[in-house]
Amino acid sequence: MFKSKTDDAIRPVTPDDRAEWLRLRGLLWPDESNAHAAEIDGFLAAPAPGAQVLVLETAPGRLGGFIELAERAFAEGCATSPVAYVEGVFVEKGLRRRGAARRLVDAAVIWARDAGYHELGSDAYSDNRTGRRLHLDAGFEEVAHITCFRLPL
Ligand SMILES: CC(C)(COP(=O)(O)OP(=O)(O)OC[C@H]1O[C@@H](n2cnc3c(N)ncnc32)[C@H](O)[C@@H]1OP(=O)(O)O)[C@@H](O)C(=O)NCCC(=O)NCCS
Repeated sequence: MFKSKTDDAIRPVTPDDRAEWLRLRGLLWPDESNAHAAEIDGFLAAPAPGAQVLVLETAPGRLGGFIELAERAFAEGCATSPVAYVEGVFVEKGLRRRGAARRLVDAAVIWARDAGYHELGSDAYSDNRTGRRLHLDAGFEEVAHITCFRLPL
């Protein structure tokens, strides 16, 4: 458990968090809402090697944020393989600008190091100012700018 000065705590997700994790995931990735329940149930039943989810518990039965981590064979700018990777970090609107995301990232760094990884990769849209600042302030270095393309088939 990663304790703070406040009452809320950062800890690994448990099956009891299913509904709250589903709610928060839907806020972060609304376009993919159909896939969330199956992905959550898959993780809770048998997480993939190197997968971890840390949640911010604000009250019993209530979550205010999460950070999802996965193992990736390769990540942009990383020299080791495999690496831990931040797949998503989210804090609910009413709880923002109090350092919650930074605490989630710091807890993820500790988790990844303890799990034996040598690098933690992540990404953010270049116009996501808070997301970029969050990473830079937590010690990440910017390693690439990528343009994504799509060709309908
Ligand atoms: C990005 C996100 C996770 C940040 O969550 P957060 O809990 O507000 O983040 P933090 O509080 O740790 O830091 C955010 C800002 O609050 C500031 N802050 C932190 N503690 C503070 C405090 N006690 N008082 C005032 N400001 C504070 C930080 O300096 C930072 O400011 P900056 O953007 O000017 O650098 C959140 O906005 C979010 O969920 N956004 C949607 C999803 C998203 O974009 N995810 C990130 C993808 S990379």
